Amino acid sequence: MNISIIGSGYVGLVTGSCLAELGNNVLCVDKDDRKIEKLKKAEIPIYEPGLKELIARNIKNKKLLFSSSIKEAVKKSEIIFIAVGTPSLENGEVDLTDVEDVARNIALNMTEYRLIVEKSTVPVETGEWVKRTISAYIKQKIKFDVASNPEFLREGQAINDFMHPDRIIIGVESKKAKDILANLYKPLNAAILVTNIKSAELIKHASNAFLATKISFINAFSQICDKVGADVKEVAFGMGLDKRIGHSFLDAGAGYGGSCFPKDLDAFINISKKVGYDFRLLKAVKDINEEQKEFILKKIRDVLWMLKDKTIGVLGLAFKPDTDDMRNAPAVSIIKYLQKEGSRVRVYDPQAMEKAKIELMDAKFCDSPYEVCKGSDCLLIITEWNEFKELDFVKVKKMLKRPIIIDARNMYDPGILKKLGFQYMGVGRL
Ligand code: UDX
Repeated sequence: MNISIIGSGYVGLVTGSCLAELGNNVLCVDKDDRKIEKLKKAEIPIYEPGLKELIARNIKNKKLLFSSSIKEAVKKSEIIFIAVGTPSLENGEVDLTDVEDVARNIALNMTEYRLIVEKSTVPVETGEWVKRTISAYIKQKIKFDVASNPEFLREGQAINDFMHPDRIIIGVESKKAKDILANLYKPLNAAILVTNIKSAELIKHASNAFLATKISFINAFSQICDKVGADVKEVAFGMGLDKRIGHSFLDAGAGYGGSCFPKDLDAFINISKKVGYDFRLLKAVKDINEEQKEFILKKIRDVLWMLKDKTIGVLGLAFKPDTDDMRNAPAVSIIKYLQKEGSRVRVYDPQAMEKAKIELMDAKFCDSPYEVCKGSDCLLIITEWNEFKELDFVKVKKMLKRPIIIDARNMYDPGILKKLGFQYMGVGRL
């Protein structure tokens, strides 16, 4: 099939290159000419395992092209995905300026049937607005369809998530649109759920809100576990054995971050308010997530007492492992607080150092985890990179000023570290 993806950000690039890999002819479009020139040489602006190779291979096979022209996209492709950014406004609302702009430009260039598919996460009823916008700007009497096909891609595993999805949601209003999308995704052999457009839009928000709720739920339990001397890992495992609950998204830690959960939660609290419902549960989910960072800080204060003039070594800055994404990373708030209290902070992350330098100018960026430990009063782990699992703790202990480990992601075995002579503190475990 001939497909265009408007918006060559994270979602657009992963979707475009995976659809090209499935044998389609894909044109990825972006209004940023410089970005497009780089993409033509397979230079990508983000770190995502396997993505660079996938893009390079499909450019070579002539399955993947790049352009900054929406006109070219509309001319060439029967299916046009909208994958532009939908950032948050100060008041929590979603800024849909780019979606509207793209819809208008598609309409102005349309000369025959096109299927326009929302891929970005958008508020419910955006599909309706896209339809109205296209109808208002279209120059001739041409048939078109709008569909919603939300993405469920996790950073760090996006290609695998695309190729092996738990489900594909297709929100449509016509059989033609349904058949086109069902056909497009046929090679994936995945479960496809066909709904109306508004339900598809809501499924995306409901899924992310529910996953964030699971995380805040277990984080709230981690605080109880700390108080009574239980182990939150055992509690989560025991709960997860119930098939109705499941094991995933029950890892207590420093709270969720990233470009999706915090933004989507704000957006959905706002959307609910607009339609006349006060979503108190999601407000609490958000508050618990903020509190979790304070919970980690309290642990540091409990062990070091005064933070002024102390040196804190921090391992892991990205909002989760296998990404260089620093958006809403818990590490930023925690480190900024420590610095405000007068601590010196030494940091290391396997991928996110460049991006972290923008926000954490005053931290000492180190070349290795051991360099971080040098002279630090304690070691704080905020992101559970695999690299940190294999540390030589005898060396770590020698480098630290005091043998204290605060494991904000519960990645180590407390028994082993205590045996090695560390004072160990996890989240919700002794
Ligand atoms: C998420 C959704 O999973 C994906 O379906 C959606 O389309 C985009 O948003 P992503 O933001 O890449 O993906 O990260 P995810 O792996 O879901 O983790 C989100 C945050 O939750 C991370 O900060 C992670 O550290 C945290 N988390 C996750 C926990 O604290 N505990 C858990 O058990 C799981």
